[in-house]
Order: sequence, then C-alpha cells, then structure tokens
Amino acid sequence: MKILVLNGPNLAALGRREPDVYGTASLAELDAACVAWGAEHGAEVTCAQSNDEGALIDRLYAAEDDGVAGVVFNAGGYTHTSVALRDAIAAIDVPVLEVHLSNVHAREAFRRESLIAPVCRGSIAGLGPAGYRAAIEAFARGVGA
Ligand code: DQA
Repeated sequence: MKILVLNGPNLAALGRREPDVYGTASLAELDAACVAWGAEHGAEVTCAQSNDEGALIDRLYAAEDDGVAGVVFNAGGYTHTSVALRDAIAAIDVPVLEVHLSNVHAREAFRRESLIAPVCRGSIAGLGPAGYRAAIEAFARGVGA
C-alpha cells in the first residue's frame, strides 16, 4: 500500500518555527518517522512538502495517478483559506486524512474553520507527530478502502 504524507506551507521550518506550538522535531525527522511508521504496517510512505498551493494541488492529482491508497495532509495555513485545495481533494478518488500538529480549535478563531475538512475522510488535530502516526495506521488498517 502506498501512502503520501503531504505537508503544506511553512512546515519545512518545523523545529525552528514556533517550537512551543509545533514542537522541536524537524520536517526531516517527522518524514523519517512517518516512513518508519508506515513500514511497521508494510506500507510504503512517501513524503512531500511545498509552500505553493498549485504544487500541492498537482501533488494530489499525481497521488491519484500513482495509485496512492491514502494521503495524510497537513495543509498548514491553506487549510483555512483554500477553495482550490478543497476542490482538488474533492476531485480525486484517493481518501485524504487532514492532520494538524497543533490543536487548531484552541487557537485563534480563524484556525477553527477548515475549508478542506468536509471533503476529507477525517481530521486529527493537536496530537503533534502522533497525529501523523494515527493517520498512517488508519490507512494501513483499511480506513478509506
Ligand atoms: C497547522 C495549523 C495551521 O493553522 C497553521 O497555519 C500551520 C500548521 C498545524 O499543523 O497545526 O501552518 O496546520
């Protein structure tokens, strides 16, 4: 089973970006952990990050073309703004699990709204890297199949 872990804008700065909110692990460390968590379940995890909305949209369509079984997606700030990303998630047949490191519901009011949540299979927020692990394991156990 192929799983894509897709991270959006500013997540390349993990570890040095607001560590009190997002933790001290770098994106490279998070990516390596995701690959290992997938491997525990025989899943092949590929990781990608972009600050660019269009590149994220292209990556979602490419995931469908590549036969990816599930996308673990932290859309960062685009979560709260992007109709185009929502449309791409709705357009593809691949199930998407929305993940946020922080508890977006316990922060500023504008973070409480997710434009992508209604077209995602489910959402996890506030668990840090463990949220990515839970999403990978959910796909590996057949959620979305
Ligand atoms: C985030 C939450 C978003 O509101 C924020 O814009 C991010 C990170 C998270 O992982 O907690 O960039 O998606």
